[in-house]
This record gives sequence, structure tokens and C-alpha cells, in this order.
Amino acid sequence: MKKIVIAVGSSISAYKSCDLARLFVKAGYNVFVALTENATKMVSPLTLEALTGNPVFTDATLWEKHEMGHIFLKDKAELFLAAPATANMIGKFANGIADDLVSTTFLALECPAMIAPAMNPNMFAHPAVQMNIERLKSWGVKFVEPEEGLVACGDQGKGRLADINLIFEAAVNVVEGK
Ligand SMILES: Cc1cc2nc3c(=O)[nH]c(=O)nc-3n(C[C@H](O)[C@H](O)[C@H](O)COP(=O)(O)O)c2cc1C
Repeated sequence: MKKIVIAVGSSISAYKSCDLARLFVKAGYNVFVALTENATKMVSPLTLEALTGNPVFTDATLWEKHEMGHIFLKDKAELFLAAPATANMIGKFANGIADDLVSTTFLALECPAMIAPAMNPNMFAHPAVQMNIERLKSWGVKFVEPEEGLVACGDQGKGRLADINLIFEAAVNVVEGK
């Protein structure tokens, strides 16, 4: 069974990670989800545990249960998929900051990484974010570009999380080596 880790950031689109996880489960993948601390305020670990049939990893599991989550996830993963990825996550990944479960996992990876950003269009267009993305791309990290359109805050532009079917297809192509 192919294993995948989905890292979920605290974007308003975090709820879409439930349907994304289901796509992988339905396709026969063993899905492990890691939520940032802030993402646990937006989507319930319990929901994702029920959908994936696996424990969900959070900073609480790292600190309260003393589980070395970053090592466990690294060993479990054939692909690390950050979806939705916040500007904050992308900034941490690009700069070697490892102050939580998700960012620590990223640094410990031995598998390919794919990132689907989601944020306000002004945030996405900011040189700080764009430079971080370019840096990650130069290291071989794959990106699924956000869509143009209306974002939850009411602004128009490029920043909305890509369609989950597109993210799923892009991830499967990497895992299957297509
Ligand atoms: C309702 C709400 C929606 C948010 N949506 C986004 C978003 O789509 N993208 C983003 O980069 N930040 C978003 N933020 C800001 C992040 O939650 C904030 O930067 C947070 O510190 C990121 O933490 P994380 O990367 O550990 O999840 C949002 C915040 C709130 C309160």
C-alpha cells in the first residue's frame, strides 16, 4: 500500500483537506495527516482520523504523547504533500525553521515533497513568498499552483487552493513516477 503524508496548514481552505484525504483513501493509499497547531482550530483531527483510519499527528501528539512524530512520518511517507500550505509554512520550509511537527517533518524528509499553497493574493504575490517558493523549487520541491479567483476574504486574484482533484493527480503522478 502506497503511503502519503498530508500536512495541513491553517488556511481557511483547510476543510478541503478532508475531501483530499478521502481521494487518496479511495484510491487505496495509506494516508497520514499532520496538522499544524493552528490548523487544529480549523479542521478537527477526529474528522481526519475517521476519514483516514490512521492517527492524526499534531504538536500535541509530539509534546504530550512524546511521539517522535517527525521520524515516524518520514519513515511512513512516500510523498509529503502540504495542502493547503500557508505562507508561514512555506517560509519555514524555505528557511530551515523547525519549530513544530510539520516543519520538523519537512526537514527530516527522505521522500519527495509537494506543496499546494493557499493564501490571500497579495500574500501570494509578495516577493518574500515568491522568493521562498523559488528557493524550494530550486531544491526540487514540486508545487501545485493556486488558482485565480475570489478568495474567502473577498479579494480577487491568484491564491485560492488548487482544485483538490488537480492536487490529487499531481501527487499520484509523483508517487507513481509518471
Ligand atoms: C480565518 C483565517 C484564515 C486564514 N487563511 C490563511 C490562508 O489561506 N493562507 C495563509 O497563508 N494564512 C492564512 N491565515 C493566517 C495563518 O493562519 C497564520 O499565518 C498562522 O500563523 C499560520 O500557521 P501555520 O502555518 O502553522 O498553520 C488565516 C488566518 C485566519 C484566522
